Amino acid sequence: MSKTIIANFKMELSLKQSLDLLKKYKKGLKTINTNYNLVVCPDFLCLAYLSAKDEKTRVFPFNLGSQTVGHLKYGALTGEVSAFNLKDIGVSFCLLGHSERRQMGENNHIIREKIKTALKAKLIPVLCIGEEKKLSKSKLDTFLAKEIRETFSGFSQSEMKKIIIAYEPVWAIGNKNPCLPKKADEVHGLIKEIIFKKFKTNIKVLYGGSVNGENAKSYLEWENIDGLLVGGASLSWKKFKKVIN
Ligand code: 13P
Repeated sequence: MSKTIIANFKMELSLKQSLDLLKKYKKGLKTINTNYNLVVCPDFLCLAYLSAKDEKTRVFPFNLGSQTVGHLKYGALTGEVSAFNLKDIGVSFCLLGHSERRQMGENNHIIREKIKTALKAKLIPVLCIGEEKKLSKSKLDTFLAKEIRETFSGFSQSEMKKIIIAYEPVWAIGNKNPCLPKKADEVHGLIKEIIFKKFKTNIKVLYGGSVNGENAKSYLEWENIDGLLVGGASLSWKKFKKVIN
């Protein structure tokens, strides 16, 4: 099964910078032979801009993802974007429950609704979970079990089969202090075990948190690490190329 690498541009770039960077991704990927399933998540504005381009320009050697979606199909949700509209413009993945959104008030209840809506729109939800501070093994087990229980209560096995989880320990995001690959592999194993016990299905788990060109390979070698979610190192083609090489 090919591993998945997701670039999350967050809200780091101007529209022009995002478009220029995507051009570089597109050009650069022509010269690279990669087996990874690549997904790029620019901001909504950039996604909309790309969809307005002619069909030839709209062809990318990667999938497009959004950084969140609204929890209703349509409705009075000022500032949100419908998963259905995103699907209509060619988006196929969406990040949900990113810690930066949780810090702005999203909780497991609303994230659960967002996942349900994303699935209805036929987007592939990538649920981000991770502890804020380093925890002992038993506390981390309890934390992850609670997150999974609250987020996926009432989900069916067939719904779970369509979901990806990204383990992003908050303490490892945006600094030079990533979770060690062996430890990340252990945590991914644990997440997979919890999901398997509850839903009798296997799930892909990606690692995110200070991934860069120097350490990417050391994560991808581990069996339980099905890919990467990359923030800072996705903001330059040169850096991202190192990650996928
Ligand atoms: P960094 O790769 O910059 O640590 O960000 C990780 C992240 O939050 C990706 O969603």
